[in-house]
Amino acid sequence: MEKRKPIIVGNWKLYKNIQEAIELATAIKNVRQSLPHLEVGIAPPFTALHAVAKRLEGSNVIVAAQNCYFEEKGAFTGEVSPMLLADVGCTHIIIGHSERRQIFGEDDALINRKLKAVIKQKLTPILCIGEHLAQREAGQTFEVVERQLLGALKDIPTEQVRRIVIAYEPVWAIGTGKTASTAQAQEVHQFLRKLLVEHYRDAAERVRIQYGGSVKPENVSGLMAQPDIDGALVGGASLGPDSFIGILRYER
Ligand code: PGA
Repeated sequence: MEKRKPIIVGNWKLYKNIQEAIELATAIKNVRQSLPHLEVGIAPPFTALHAVAKRLEGSNVIVAAQNCYFEEKGAFTGEVSPMLLADVGCTHIIIGHSERRQIFGEDDALINRKLKAVIKQKLTPILCIGEHLAQREAGQTFEVVERQLLGALKDIPTEQVRRIVIAYEPVWAIGTGKTASTAQAQEVHQFLRKLLVEHYRDAAERVRIQYGGSVKPENVSGLMAQPDIDGALVGGASLGPDSFIGILRYER
C-alpha cells in the first residue's frame, strides 16, 4: 500500500489583505521546494485568492478557499460557487469548518450538498468535523464525529471519497491554545479510519485525515508521528511565516 502523503494547510480565516497575503504566500513558496515529502496549502480569504494564486503559479503550493455555496450560478446574492473558485485558481475548498457550523448554522445536510458541488467541479474538499467540549465531556465524541462524517459523505461514492481530505478539529482546541494530546487525537483518527473501512473500504487507506486545533511548531511533530494523522489544518499559527514554516519543517 502506497504511503499517504501528509498535507498541511494554513487556514487564514478573516485575516490578511491582498498585500499581506502575497507576502506570506511568497515566503511559503520560497520554502516549498525543500519539502517534497509534503503537500502544502494555504486558504486565504476570498478577496486575496486570485492574487495569491497568480503569485503561486508553478510553485506546487495548494490554494484553497475557506467555504463555498453548492449552486454553480444563479440569483444567490453574496455566494461563491466551486466553479468560480476554480476560475480564480483554487484546487481545494474547506467545507464545514466549525466556525461555519457554529456561527453560520451549517448542518450536515448542507455540508453534504456543498461537498457534492466541490467534487462535481473536480476540486478537493477538506471536510472538517469535530466535537464541542460539552460533547467530549459527556463521552459523545465518537458518536458526534460519526454522525458528522457519515452525514457529510451521504450518497458520495467510494471513488470520490478517496479524494476527500478530512480534518478532525475538536472545537474546544480551536484557537484556544489547548491542543488535544497526541493520544486523544490519534484515538479519534483511528476511529475515523475504522469508520472509513466499514463504509468505504476501498478508500479507507487512501483518505488523509488532518488534525486541527492549536497546532504549533512545538506540538506538530508529536501529532504527525501518529499512525492515523496525515497532516494538519492550522489556523492562528499559519498567519506568520516563522510559525507556519516551523510547522512545515516538523521533525520526521
Ligand atoms: P487554530 O485553528 O490552529 O487557530 O486552533 C484551527 C482551525 O480553525 O482550522
